[in-house]
Amino acid sequence: MSEKLWIFDTTLRDGEQVPGCQLNTQEKIVVAKALEELGVDIIEAGFPISSPGDFNSVVEISKAVSNPIICALSRAVEKDIEVAAQALKFAKKGRIHTGIGVSPYHIQYKLRSTPDDIIRRGVAAVKYAKRFVEDVEFYAEDAGRSEPDFLCKIIEEVIKAGATVVNIPDTTGYCLPEQYGGIVANLKNNVPNIDKAIISTHCHNDLGMATANTVAGVQQGARQVEVTINGIGERAGNTSMEEVVMAIKCHQSIPVHTDIQTPRIYKTSRLVSKLMNMPVQPNKAIVGRNAFAHSSGIHQDGVLKHRENYEIIDPKEVGVEESSIVLTARSGRAALKHHLDALGVELEGDALREVYEAFLILADSKRDIGRKDLMGLVGKYMDES
Ligand code: KIV
Ligand code: ZN
Repeated sequence: MSEKLWIFDTTLRDGEQVPGCQLNTQEKIVVAKALEELGVDIIEAGFPISSPGDFNSVVEISKAVSNPIICALSRAVEKDIEVAAQALKFAKKGRIHTGIGVSPYHIQYKLRSTPDDIIRRGVAAVKYAKRFVEDVEFYAEDAGRSEPDFLCKIIEEVIKAGATVVNIPDTTGYCLPEQYGGIVANLKNNVPNIDKAIISTHCHNDLGMATANTVAGVQQGARQVEVTINGIGERAGNTSMEEVVMAIKCHQSIPVHTDIQTPRIYKTSRLVSKLMNMPVQPNKAIVGRNAFAHSSGIHQDGVLKHRENYEIIDPKEVGVEESSIVLTARSGRAALKHHLDALGVELEGDALREVYEAFLILADSKRDIGRKDLMGLVGKYMDES
């Protein structure tokens, strides 16, 4: 049996920080329940000190959801941690996620501090959070651009202070997969107490590497991934849940499994897109409108002969009814025949050739060829039959 990979969903925290994506408490509860049904292990429900509305959402989500751990974010500040703990009071299983910047940029320019002081503050925050909950996750913000020995040092100290999960964010989406995987490998090899905590990935997508970096982290031993539905999040977004889950499902060489009910993926993606007013790009992996649409003649012919010629995932596995063969000027005869057959018009030989030629002329002048267009093209043959 492979090891479990914990799915930490931050759609309602990092995802919801996106301008225009704000949800009210009722909407957040709807999303949280959908995430629970999807099978996520941890829901990051908000950043309670940030506003009364966010505090209230964490309280209400804690009441509404039973299975996942409910997580609340805080800075490494006592007041933040106290407010996070209060917001979690109804959670069946609560986690405080606290942390501090660890890169030279953050230490020097954001926090105007020193490495030793950062370790002191990180350790103090974890110890303080442990007064309220057993499950404390520490985030080493901007770990992607941190100095490797310093990162090892602070991670060792926060684990000794009681952190159950250590989050290694590539906050600025800077890393390449080899670098991010290398950071996780370095922690695995050089932090004496690393096996007492779960290593978590948290990647941003500024260079379009979030999924690749996350998978690289898992390959090097991370056993929690922080993700959002549709990859929404600050700037270019966070790691997309559906991409990581399906990459892991497709590649058995990665020795982990998740408890995500993949046939619920598409439905959840639509729900989040609608409520957050955030359209999904058509070519988005797994959940985009074109993710299972075949439009060129060669591909259409191949997929009609055998689905796996051009599909690595059965669309039903992610809750999409079926793949589509789209009719465009690039479509071949096989695709046209497929659609005509579905309309009950079975043409072969010269008749099919003739209709195909007329179809190409029409398709050159029109983007979408639908049922009505096809009926127009085959009218003559229908009258004859
Ligand atoms: O990107 C980041 O570093 C974060 C932390 C607050 C976990 O979102
Ligand atoms: Zn983030």
